[in-house]
Amino acid sequence: MLHRHLIPSVPLVISLFFAAICLAAAQEAPKDPVIIGAPAGAKIKKPKVAFSHAKHAALQCEACHHMLKKNPEVYSCSSEGCHDLATPTSSEERKSIAYFRNAFHANSKASCNGCHKSRKKEGKPAGPTACKGCHTVK
Ligand code: HEC
Ligand code: HEC
Ligand code: HEC
Repeated sequence: MLHRHLIPSVPLVISLFFAAICLAAAQEAPKDPVIIGAPAGAKIKKPKVAFSHAKHAALQCEACHHMLKKNPEVYSCSSEGCHDLATPTSSEERKSIAYFRNAFHANSKASCNGCHKSRKKEGKPAGPTACKGCHTVK
């Protein structure tokens, strides 16, 4: 009897152990709004964007921090190797998702405006899709 109980519990103990490590490593979402950053050298023409994690608490972290599994420490969108292209110099670069501006407006699920637009289309609650709704920090 005792053995029947012990044997299946070993994988459970191991998975609980790794779950505990993951929880310890994960950062918490900031409670106050954060001002979204831009890559070094970017010329910012619009008012900046304040982002509230609290208003997006229904989403998984990975909905936006979509590389979190590969890079558990990286939370900045314009980190090196991510959306770090500040000033595109060709039409190809202007369309590239590496160009930081596109990361926030592209028609993809992980982009701010991409998600807002598709949810609005589906008639679901969504955030702003007008420039002034996001670019608010003068
Ligand atoms: C709807 C999109 C979205 C979701 C969902 C989201 N975040 Fe964020 N998070 C952001 C953006 C945008 C930034 C600012 C990034 C930048 O400046 O490049 C950020 C920044 C952060 C930062 C850095 C804060 C700082 O002060 O530098 C941490 C830590 C963080 N998020 C953790 C989390 C955690 C944990 C979750 C899940 C519970 C989460 N985020 C969910 C979009 C999101
Ligand atoms: C995967 C979907 C999704 C993504 C990605 C997303 N949002 Fe939202 N956002 C929402 C939804 C849904 C709401 C409406 C929440 C509500 O009304 O309860 C919202 C609400 C908002 C609001 C209005 C609430 C407030 O904070 O005043 C702003 C502003 C906003 N989002 C900005 C952003 C920005 C900036 C980003 C990108 C960094 C972003 N969102 C990414 C789904 C998303
Ligand atoms: C859902 C939120 C959201 C909406 C709506 C939105 N933007 Fe943005 N935009 C961002 C974020 C986030 C950034 C990156 C952070 C930054 O540059 O301050 C950005 C960056 C930019 C940039 C590059 C940086 C700069 O200031 O020069 C431009 C240009 C821009 N947006 C123009 C627009 C225009 C034009 C509209 C309306 C047609 C618009 N955005 C609508 C979130 C949004």
